[in-house]
Amino acid sequence: MSITLESNQEPSVQTESAELEGLRSKLIHLYDHNAPRYDNDRSITDSLHFYFDHAHRAVNALIGPTNKDTLHVDMPVGTGRFLFLLREQGRDHRMIGIDISKGMLEVAAQNSRQCGHDIEFSQGDAFSLPFADNSVDVLTSLRMFHLFPHCYWPGLLDEMYRVLKPGGTLITELRNAARGTACQLLVPGFRKRRKQHPHVFVNPLSIKPLFRRWENMHMQGVGLDALSKIHRIAPILAKGVDTLQRTTFVRYFSKTLIIHATKPF
Ligand SMILES: C[S@@+](CC[C@H](N)C(=O)[O-])C[C@H]1O[C@@H](n2cnc3c(N)ncnc32)[C@H](O)[C@@H]1O
Repeated sequence: MSITLESNQEPSVQTESAELEGLRSKLIHLYDHNAPRYDNDRSITDSLHFYFDHAHRAVNALIGPTNKDTLHVDMPVGTGRFLFLLREQGRDHRMIGIDISKGMLEVAAQNSRQCGHDIEFSQGDAFSLPFADNSVDVLTSLRMFHLFPHCYWPGLLDEMYRVLKPGGTLITELRNAARGTACQLLVPGFRKRRKQHPHVFVNPLSIKPLFRRWENMHMQGVGLDALSKIHRIAPILAKGVDTLQRTTFVRYFSKTLIIHATKPF
């Protein structure tokens, strides 16, 4: 499913809440069910592993300096993979992982305990985050927006805006429609694999209006197809191609777009 930001299909409040309720239950069921095998499914191929590692490192770099007083919320935290990487990279600030699925949170908490990480996990909904206004320094939200039709995106962003402190940082990740459409047309079985829950893509050219309340917004690409193969053969060349997808129009061919923005003072 490809949805552009100019969509004018505004549902009525009643239809919206019934639809959203249905979607919420479907997603809870889906992720509770998939939780035990979630991590395994995502490291099944070298290229997937490469993409996740790459995306997590890029987001880590975008977070910038943190200290013990920094409150960082990762939502949805899933099985905690991103926060574990941050701890392994030596980040020692306060981290809270929020997710709506108890199944995912149980896996996250268990893995965290096993690794000896000090991370808090709590159940919560992206549409009503369990935080006071202006209380969070850094909010990361990876691989979530594609789960919701575009009409819900402004509401999700407003909630993130509410809880962030003025000057606070949001880093999120959106599925790139240009690459999504190409895959649907060219990759056999792509649609079928997405049957459980179709992904909602976004036209990269229509992202900016969504962030009009925010400051210093910029976007970079991650997950350019074949980058992991290039990396295996010629790591230096792969580094160059990666720089291009972060800094030039090449980002429009990447799997996802990482958006970095700050809440104004
Ligand atoms: C594709 S996973 C991404 C998890 C994690 N960010 C990662 O990168 O591995 C999507 C997650 O969104 C969670 N989720 C779905 N709807 C949510 C909602 N309304 N509020 C909070 N979490 C939600 C699911 O339970 C699932 O863990």
